[in-house]
Amino acid sequence: MDILVVGGGGREHAVIKALSRSEKVGKIYCAPGNGGISKLAECFPVKATDIDGMVALAEKIKPDYVFVTPDDPLVMGMVDKLNEKGFRTFGPRANAAILEGSKVFSKGLMKKYGIPTAAYETFTDADKAIAYIKEQGKYPAVIKCDGLALGKGVIIAQNEQEAVDAVNSMLIGGKFGKSGSEIVIEEFMTGPEVTVLAFTDGKTVKPMVSSMDHKRAYDGDKGLNTGGMGTIAPNPLYTKEKADECMEKIFLPTIKAMQSEGRPFKGCLYFGLMLTPDGARVVEYNCRFGDPEAQVVLPLLKTDLADIIEAIYEERLDALDIEWYDESCACVVMASGGYPEKYPTGLPISGFDANGQLADGSAYVYHAGTKLDGDTFLTAGGRVLGVTAAAPSLQEALDKAYAAVGRISFENAHFRRDIGQRALGKSE
Ligand code: AMP
Ligand code: GLY
Repeated sequence: MDILVVGGGGREHAVIKALSRSEKVGKIYCAPGNGGISKLAECFPVKATDIDGMVALAEKIKPDYVFVTPDDPLVMGMVDKLNEKGFRTFGPRANAAILEGSKVFSKGLMKKYGIPTAAYETFTDADKAIAYIKEQGKYPAVIKCDGLALGKGVIIAQNEQEAVDAVNSMLIGGKFGKSGSEIVIEEFMTGPEVTVLAFTDGKTVKPMVSSMDHKRAYDGDKGLNTGGMGTIAPNPLYTKEKADECMEKIFLPTIKAMQSEGRPFKGCLYFGLMLTPDGARVVEYNCRFGDPEAQVVLPLLKTDLADIIEAIYEERLDALDIEWYDESCACVVMASGGYPEKYPTGLPISGFDANGQLADGSAYVYHAGTKLDGDTFLTAGGRVLGVTAAAPSLQEALDKAYAAVGRISFENAHFRRDIGQRALGKSE
């Protein structure tokens, strides 16, 4: 089975690493890929959002499957286009990817089908939105733009002024372009967050091992929101009871709702959950693997990923038993100094062997933003590396990952030192 993986970050590296363990998988291609990925897959310089370019590439290399990993091409309908041309795919069609592509859609779906989430209203008019905020008078207030915004379209306003500014920036200032032409204002929820990725073929849903992201830039959950500074799996706060509750109240109802709407979701559905005092609630859906959640979940997958891809495409996931290693996994992201704002690129990374890995193999390094210059790996993005280790316990996995981080360097590298501390019960 030859596979073309669309994307070029740490998550795509994790997908490719998992595919490379498969006995069934032959050639692995990636577009656009990155420096580290190029050691496992043949990379082609086609942008992940270039639908026509990707179809042309698929027609040239004729893979058995195209695995569309990032949100934008999924929301833009890359899977639909590939299917039209006769390619088998992994990932939802546009009419299902809308679960991530439009918060107005996903909140409406949850309301219609009674799936627990924060109470909300939607607005296109700034005056009406501000009047609603003032009438509610409750802070923090959560203001979200409808469409994709690179994880930056959510503002937690601490007071009226911040809320008014947020509404104006989205609805009048056009801060997020078309993505922000409609907004959702919702109730602020409290509680620990859990990510549950789930395989689904539109009928059956099989949750993966749970995980926890660390979205803020600095220790103690300070600083700006980022794409994710580190992850651990499984998430110890997500107990068997919580898993049963989520299956009954959230996972199955979501899959059934999408089916009833004529939008069967095939691929990996990301449930961003909050364990509130009133039970588990959906914070958001994503239509794809999380990044860096994939980096800690996929290493624990025992079943051949290629078998899962086929079972989902052929809609026979119910008959496949998916197995996991009984270990913990931790990923520490090394980012460019300045990320998520302005940062330099092109800095040489030291500590690697020729494959962009640690010679002793004590951890696996998922490359997020790197490129190769001759034999040297250079930084090429905000998040640069996801240094990942698995071990029998979470503490050991964290120790291994942090020891490996200490052996890799580039100028002004920034990483959080508290990944996993909350999960271990060592911080609030
Ligand atoms: P989202 O992009 O919708 O996942 O939001 C990004 C982050 O904002 C989430 O991971 C939460 O930490 C936070 N957040 C979003 N919605 C809420 C809410 N209703 N209550 C509290 N925090 C929220
Ligand atoms: N790590 C959060 C996301 O992938 O959306």
